Formats: sequence, C-alpha cells, structure tokens
Amino acid sequence: MGDAPLRVMISGAPAAGKGTQCASIVEDFGLTHISAGDLLRAEVSAGTPAGKRASEFMTAGKLVPNEVVVDMVVGALSSGEAARRGWLLDGYPRSPEQAQAIDRAGIRPDVFLLLNVPDDALVARVVGRRLDPVTGDIYHLTFRPPPTEVAPRLVQRSDDTEEAVRTRLATYHANLDAVLGFYPDQIVQIDGARSMPEVYADIRAALDAAVASKALRVAAA
Ligand code: AP5
Repeated sequence: MGDAPLRVMISGAPAAGKGTQCASIVEDFGLTHISAGDLLRAEVSAGTPAGKRASEFMTAGKLVPNEVVVDMVVGALSSGEAARRGWLLDGYPRSPEQAQAIDRAGIRPDVFLLLNVPDDALVARVVGRRLDPVTGDIYHLTFRPPPTEVAPRLVQRSDDTEEAVRTRLATYHANLDAVLGFYPDQIVQIDGARSMPEVYADIRAALDAAVASKALRVAAA
C-alpha cells in the first residue's frame, strides 16, 4: 500500500459480524487488526490488573471504563506495525468520549464501515456463536457450522447471554449517533443482514475505492 496505508474503523451492534468480516479484510488488505474486545479478553485471560477491572463490566455487557480502554487502543494504534501496514480498528470508539480521545491524538480513519443488522437478528447470532480458542476462528452453529474435527474444542463467550446482549445493544444504540457525528465524511453504510460473502463484497468494494482514492491523492501531492 506504499506510502499511504489505509486506516479503517468498523462498527456495528454486538454480533453484527465485525469479527467475521475483519478476518476477510485482513486477508485481502493486510491491515493490522486492532479489536478492543480482543485486547480486553487477552488482559482478562492474562489476569492483569486491567483485565481484573474489565472482567465484571464485560460479563455484564457494559462498557469497560475509559481509563482501562483508551490507552490500550491508542498504544496499539501507535505501534510501528500499524503505522506501516495500516490499521483496522474494531469495536472502538463506542462513545463520544472515546472518539474525542483518539481525535486529540490525531487519529482519524479514511473509512468508517457501519454494519447495519436489525436487533431481532442479533440475538440468534449471539446464541449460536462458538469460538475456536486455538485459531481464533468464529463459527455459528447454524450460519457457519464448524468442521467436525474442531467442534469439540469450541467455546462460548461469557457475555453471549441474552441478558448481556440486551445491555450491549442498549449501550450501542444510546451512543451510535454521537459517535457517527465524528466521522460524517467517512461513513460507509453496509447492509449486514445478508450472507457473509454478500456483506464482504460491499466492504471490499468500499475499501478498494478508498485505496484507489488515497493512491491518487498521494500521487498528486
Ligand atoms: P466485542 O468483543 O467488541 O463485542 P461486540 O461489539 O459485542 O461484538 P461481537 O464480538 O459480539 O460481535 P461481532 O460484530 O464481532 O460479530 P461476529 O463476527 O463474532 O466487545 C465485548 C465487550 O468488551 C463489550 O461488551 C465491552 O464490555 C468490552 N469492550 C469492547 N470494546 C470496548 C470499548 N471500546 N469500550 C469499552 N468497553 C469495550 O459474528 C457473530 C455471530 O454471527 C458469529 O457466530 C458469526 O459466525 C455469525 N455471523 C457473522 N456474520 C453473519 C452473517 N452475515 N449471517 C449470519 N451469521 C453471521
């Protein structure tokens, strides 16, 4: 991607398909994937002070306090690898305060992908989700059944309960408009209620266009 690596944010309700689509984006565009949820789950597994603080909020489906999340994400975005390869920021910012914090650090995306999925489809996605702890692959018992050989080792996330999802959804909807207000010229709305390949085809087209227009701007500079 030469001198102008792409910077992408991906947002959407819980279980809208962000992680699933990020895997394809990383494969095709080589961006550094920074998932706020994955960073937090790694801290929880490692039993760090930040992880201990985050754990109860995550299980309840509430936002983890900014003093735990913001520096973690800014640190990941500031890595040499993210600067060199470009980045794909997943699950951040989730509030205007979080958007403000990275804005102040001069961090803005070229594209803000917004995956739109109606709430009633999301509960089914959450309840059927299973994760492979070895590869990190995301499956769904109905929509993306796992191969038989990996099925026995799959796990469910502790916040994939109907109650926690309702809290996660309410928080998402309460903050969405304020977060979108930071990126009026970067938002690309994607209909996430279709099949995984159909959703990805639109994402890929949007990112191809962004890469081309960035390359033109760099060439003209
Ligand atoms: P996080 O891990 O970011 O969770 P989330 O936003 O709720 O999103 P999910 O990971 O649940 O879903 P996804 O959109 O990635 O969907 P997936 O691809 O897996 O955050 C977890 C928690 O961490 C938060 O609740 C909070 O506590 C904390 N946190 C994180 N970021 C924070 C922040 N910035 N500030 C404060 N706290 C923060 O797909 C879901 C399922 O659907 C899968 O089974 C998949 O196979 C299936 N699926 C995917 N696409 C399709 C499709 N097109 N059709 C049918 N099925 C599909």
